Amino acid sequence: MKKYHIAVLPGDGIGPEIMDEAKKVLGVVAKRADVQFEMEEGLIGGSAYDRYGTPLPEAVMKMAAASDAVLLGAVGGPKWEPLDYSLRPERGLLGLRSGLGLYANLRPVVVFEDLIDASPLKPEVIRGIDLLIVRELLGDAYFGKPRGVRVENGQRIGINTMVYTEAEIRRIVKTAFELARGRRKKLLSVDKANVLEVTELWRDVATETGRDYPDVELQHMYVDNCAMQLIRNPGQFDVIVTTNMFGDILSDEASMLTGSLGMLPSASRGEKTAMYEPSHGSAPDIAGKGIANPLATILSAAMMLRHSFGLPEEASVVENAVRMVLKAGFRTVDIRQEGATIVGTKAMGDLVAEKVGALMA
Ligand code: IPM
Ligand code: MG
Repeated sequence: MKKYHIAVLPGDGIGPEIMDEAKKVLGVVAKRADVQFEMEEGLIGGSAYDRYGTPLPEAVMKMAAASDAVLLGAVGGPKWEPLDYSLRPERGLLGLRSGLGLYANLRPVVVFEDLIDASPLKPEVIRGIDLLIVRELLGDAYFGKPRGVRVENGQRIGINTMVYTEAEIRRIVKTAFELARGRRKKLLSVDKANVLEVTELWRDVATETGRDYPDVELQHMYVDNCAMQLIRNPGQFDVIVTTNMFGDILSDEASMLTGSLGMLPSASRGEKTAMYEPSHGSAPDIAGKGIANPLATILSAAMMLRHSFGLPEEASVVENAVRMVLKAGFRTVDIRQEGATIVGTKAMGDLVAEKVGALMA
């Protein structure tokens, strides 16, 4: 029997609640398929800080690096906002990303037919949308130096540095071209080349890299225009590749096409161990209430089955189970619709797990 070792890092806020449901679904997959998932849990973010005084304990970093895949919930919350930057929950996540060398963050945006009315946008604008945001994850102002706040001439000055080497740009753009090749063969590179030199370089390197992919149509767009086009006509996009910061912002925006941030899974890849996590945050305002939407985490687990474990059929089963539960009219509050049955986090997880079991029987 094939055995996979998963580092499970629930994190903060709603993290533990939504992770329970993903584990439930994986448990059913394991029971029905001929595989075994060894799940080892660790603390990350604020919960790790509370216990160990650091948002990324060394043992957790080691455990993650030694695993076949990492499944993460979410980190952060107001409780830890007063902390020094180096101790904040978010540093734990960023440390994990860089420690695992995860430079490519894949955020697929797919609209479920049954959720079309849950989106604030008109049905005709979002129907059939299937786009993929490829966000660079290890560069930009997120990691650039110098950084910090210091006093100069009697006043405070805040500094972050947006920086990319051409090698960093090339590897993420290559990843995006490869992914576009397996899809509709359209790649959009998003930058702010009219203002920022670093993205002028981004555009040049994207164009150069494109010469190796004559079968893929490459276009460029400024990020402000892209933000507007995502709302105006999102159907025009196939694969979008962009910087860490622009990708962070555009992916939150794109999530609303699907009706809720609670529906968006993500995968982060590097050379070795990959990490899977919902695109949403820890939602401290609803933590512990049992109402969070676990579907983005469950769909992230499906991406893990497909991309890290080579189990595409099982992954499709999980995705289909989600689709069927939505079709049957079940919704968490974030995707509530008239006439739908509102369920909590656990009930939603149960429904999906049950469907997975039925589909694999
Ligand atoms: C995301 C999040 C993170 C990011 C935060 C929590 C550090 O917003 O994954 O999009 O900015 O990358
Ligand atoms: Mg974000």
